[in-house]
Amino acid sequence: MYLLASAENIRELWIIPAMALFGILALCWENWPKRRPPTLCWRCGTLARREGGDYVCPNCGWTFEKDGRFRIPVRTSPISACRLRRYCAADFDTCVDIYRLNEPGRFPTGAQYIEEFSGELRDGRTLFVVCEVDGIVRGCGGIARIRERPDLVSLTYRMVHPSYHGKGFGTVMLLGRLSLLPTDGGATWIPCMATVDASAPFYARFGFSGRKFSDEAGSEFWNYFSCLNDADVERCRGSLADADVTNHCFGETVPLREQLVAKWTEVEPGKPEAS
Ligand SMILES: CC(C)(COP(=O)(O)OP(=O)(O)OC[C@H]1O[C@@H](n2cnc3c(N)ncnc32)[C@H](O)[C@@H]1OP(=O)(O)O)[C@@H](O)C(=O)NCCC(=O)NCCS
Repeated sequence: MYLLASAENIRELWIIPAMALFGILALCWENWPKRRPPTLCWRCGTLARREGGDYVCPNCGWTFEKDGRFRIPVRTSPISACRLRRYCAADFDTCVDIYRLNEPGRFPTGAQYIEEFSGELRDGRTLFVVCEVDGIVRGCGGIARIRERPDLVSLTYRMVHPSYHGKGFGTVMLLGRLSLLPTDGGATWIPCMATVDASAPFYARFGFSGRKFSDEAGSEFWNYFSCLNDADVERCRGSLADADVTNHCFGETVPLREQLVAKWTEVEPGKPEAS
């Protein structure tokens, strides 16, 4: 009887090599070079090549491990109903209020950045998108392409009213702005942004990564990048269409603007973000 039971158990042991084989196949699939397209070096923008499990920049020699591909994370809660539309001058005070409400711990305090933000709202060189909930603006964020390097997409001053955090509006505004990128040229877009410690994990979920800098006043930022292609932009559009979002921005053109020169110093030079 005992022998019979053991024989039956041994027959069931096939599952162990099967699982091991499955694991090996999964690892090969994940690390197969063709599955990971070449990506740009976060430091100097040169196309980096894959070596082993890492990317190595042939120009500056920096080695980094994340491929930085944009992805849309799976949400644990549904996106609340909202409407996206282009910013207009009447939204100015509300947007500045949202900035001020987020300032403690979220944006660096001090006049420099609120002035820069107000200037960007007014000068119209960046396209600002606002997120309305029940007809009231609860979030905003800017997008522009950089004239000197038109594949670089600057995402500026993204914020949601603190009472409305966690309801999906940050996601909606990120996807809403990226979905404005043209999809007819087969381009690879490199969205970039400066983000604070508190918000960096939010963007890391979308595949953004980068290095840390400090400005002249000592405020620290992550200079975050990602890369996305036409299919990713289509996915952004699709996700918004599936959610309860009315998008009045579709068809807006992302403007070209000059690159803002920031005097930043790298914090812990050469050290990539811990994963
Ligand atoms: C960063 C910000 C835009 C996110 O907006 P939001 O509307 O709260 O984000 P969402 O509701 O779309 O969040 C999507 C998911 O990310 C998570 N998330 C949101 N903020 C996060 C954070 N700071 N860290 C980690 N996860 C975060 C949410 O829990 C949610 O996960 P879930 O789907 O599993 O529930 C918002 O927190 C904000 O305005 N912050 C202040 C301004 C700011 O820091 N802007 C960044 C530029 S410096």
